Amino acid sequence: MTESGPGPGQEPTRREFFRRFAGDLVASAAQLSKVVGELRDESAAEARSLLADGGLLPITDASTVPAAPPSATSAATSEAPAPGEARPATGFRTPFRMLDDDTLLLIDQRRLPDVLVEVPVKNAAETAAAIRDMVVRGAPAIGQVAAIGLALSARSMRLAQPYARRAVLETGAEVLRGARPTAINLGGAVDRLMARSASFGELSEDGAGFAAALWDEAMAIVAEATDAGGRMAELGLELLPRPAGRPLEILTHCNTGPLAAGQFGTALGVVQAAHFAERPIHVWVDETRPYLQGARLTTWELAQAGVDHTLLPDGAAASLLAAGRVDAILVGADRVAANGDTGNKVGTYPLAVLAARHGVPFYVVAPTSSIDQGTPDGSAIPIEERSADEVVTVRGIRIAPAGTKVFNPAFDVTPAELVTAIVTERGILRPPYREAIAAAMAGSEASARSPRPREA
Ligand code: MRU
Repeated sequence: MTESGPGPGQEPTRREFFRRFAGDLVASAAQLSKVVGELRDESAAEARSLLADGGLLPITDASTVPAAPPSATSAATSEAPAPGEARPATGFRTPFRMLDDDTLLLIDQRRLPDVLVEVPVKNAAETAAAIRDMVVRGAPAIGQVAAIGLALSARSMRLAQPYARRAVLETGAEVLRGARPTAINLGGAVDRLMARSASFGELSEDGAGFAAALWDEAMAIVAEATDAGGRMAELGLELLPRPAGRPLEILTHCNTGPLAAGQFGTALGVVQAAHFAERPIHVWVDETRPYLQGARLTTWELAQAGVDHTLLPDGAAASLLAAGRVDAILVGADRVAANGDTGNKVGTYPLAVLAARHGVPFYVVAPTSSIDQGTPDGSAIPIEERSADEVVTVRGIRIAPAGTKVFNPAFDVTPAELVTAIVTERGILRPPYREAIAAAMAGSEASARSPRPREA
């Protein structure tokens, strides 16, 4: 993989991609409330502005261009920036886009917030490497990107012999599935593409038709994820307390915004919807040791969206809750088991324990693509263990003696009994979760209950 900025001759294709993407957003808008509709418009306008004139995202010289400075405004603009001038940043962006028919560009999230650069990938193997190396992360985002990567492999093999094409696809699917083990969105997206492949006829002579079918499936996954994000933002907004005479105080962990999910985000989508609804809101952002998704990414996204926020070390959350300074905790999920046990970024479980101790509602915001009924409970959620380097170094600087033994699980499991509600695109799920999840996954709309100002 190499870093890349777009070439001047590639604008039409990128524009087309975003138009289609914006079109998906617009198509889903009818069912959304006014607030989420506005949020969607911002998102679509942002996507268009990115293409119109080589705005914020396309950075041709990564080494010299810093990531966009945070702005207090979220309004997208279609005016071209003056030469050398950075476009005012806005919220709601997708972490990936097409450069041309054969190349997917991923924002390199490892390098945020220092520089905004994109990494091109052209097939399933390169996409898997980007997921494994954390170029792109966040459960819904890696599902969408994996689907596109696999569809690109099918496209690149459209003139090959059917047997060769099938071998490449099966290998690509396996590599993608193994890239990260915890988020079910990844395996789920790959399974969907492989099912489409099987139904089309894996040995079909029509390589172009086969590739088109897989591309359609990948685009459906992206569109559904986008729709789900908007719907969760709308439903989550109903849940949020409305304290009189002061801002709502939300605590969040890891990064659950557009970078992690595309366009809206999960937990951070709810926060941004509240902000767009002009509800006074302040967000406490856990730094999220050791990978610092909160410090590096959530602060960056909230600053762009103009949401007031404060960064804190993970260990400081306890005293914040003890002092009664948090109204609700919002987190995402990488895998929700059939009984509601929730696998999410390491450090989520301690927050749920604290929330129960201090009578603060603890909400999980996750699309149904993050729910796995094949995982009966939290003990069956595979927890990724990551390298010791992430713990003994901070951004390249060693902080512990060489040879120190390290325990570095990337996720933990919050027992369902500590979860106040799970916000999905199909409704707000309440205990008992096994039944609520089964109903939601069967497609029935879970009943969204009226907001409760403060609940344990
Ligand atoms: O290791 P990461 O950064 O991929 O972990 C991401 C999270 O844990 C998020 O909270 C999760 O994916 C859910 S919301 C996007």
